[in-house]
Amino acid sequence: MRQVHCNGQQLQVFDEGHGPVLLLVHGFPLDHTMWKPQLAELAKDARVIAPDLRGFGGSLINDHTVLMEQYADDLAGLLDQLEIDQPVVFCGLSMGGYIAWQFWKRYPARLEKLIVCDTRAVNDSPEVARGRQLMAERAMREGTGFIAETMLPKLLAPDTHTQCPELVDDLRKLVASASPMSVAAAQRGMSQRVDVSGWLPNINVPTLVICGQYDVVSPCEEMRDIAAALPDAVFVELNDAGHMAPLENPAEFNLALRDFCEWR
Ligand code: MLT
Repeated sequence: MRQVHCNGQQLQVFDEGHGPVLLLVHGFPLDHTMWKPQLAELAKDARVIAPDLRGFGGSLINDHTVLMEQYADDLAGLLDQLEIDQPVVFCGLSMGGYIAWQFWKRYPARLEKLIVCDTRAVNDSPEVARGRQLMAERAMREGTGFIAETMLPKLLAPDTHTQCPELVDDLRKLVASASPMSVAAAQRGMSQRVDVSGWLPNINVPTLVICGQYDVVSPCEEMRDIAAALPDAVFVELNDAGHMAPLENPAEFNLALRDFCEWR
């Protein structure tokens, strides 16, 4: 792991491998370790860059709110610091996908391909945005211990819960380890997202849209519509997986990613 100063932040980043650059951007409230089945495996084909976003994992934070645009700026700054000027394959899951849309908007020339996993293009309903504000306040008041029990049932497919106790346990620990400030800042930032559905027809970058079959946070029907609205996209539904598709079905996920990137 490396520590990198960029965009006024100190970010921790996994950086291994050579060749085409694959930027893996984690979801909320996780860190780069959610890509554990991808990190070393895909570093056989690419230079894998997997940061901890501002406040998560080993990265620092001192913000009330972090907008998706700010995370995108952090990532562009990170690529600069790592002296990566070639266009990258940007792969984001859920919140990482919200950041991907902003990265495309701000840095289109830095994208070779886009992979959006288990994410949404629409913004929050007023009820969801309100729920995020409440979670932010509660996390700051009493810590993040309550979040795992709220989120975990929604993150994983039913069979993952019963058949993969170790994965469930690791994910629970990861969610519980998120700092109150990082959770609050990200929730406030996500609640201020705009609806980017209208951007989709203009995203002229080859895109892979991946969704776990049992995702209840960003369901397959919605992600199929995202793929249909993009000019150059393929949609892949991953079997036996929920919202955390790359973690729940890494074999199919890695195969789909390699096929799309033509790393065979
Ligand atoms: C995530 O996995 O990043 C979250 O479910 C995103 C969200 O809260 O909308």
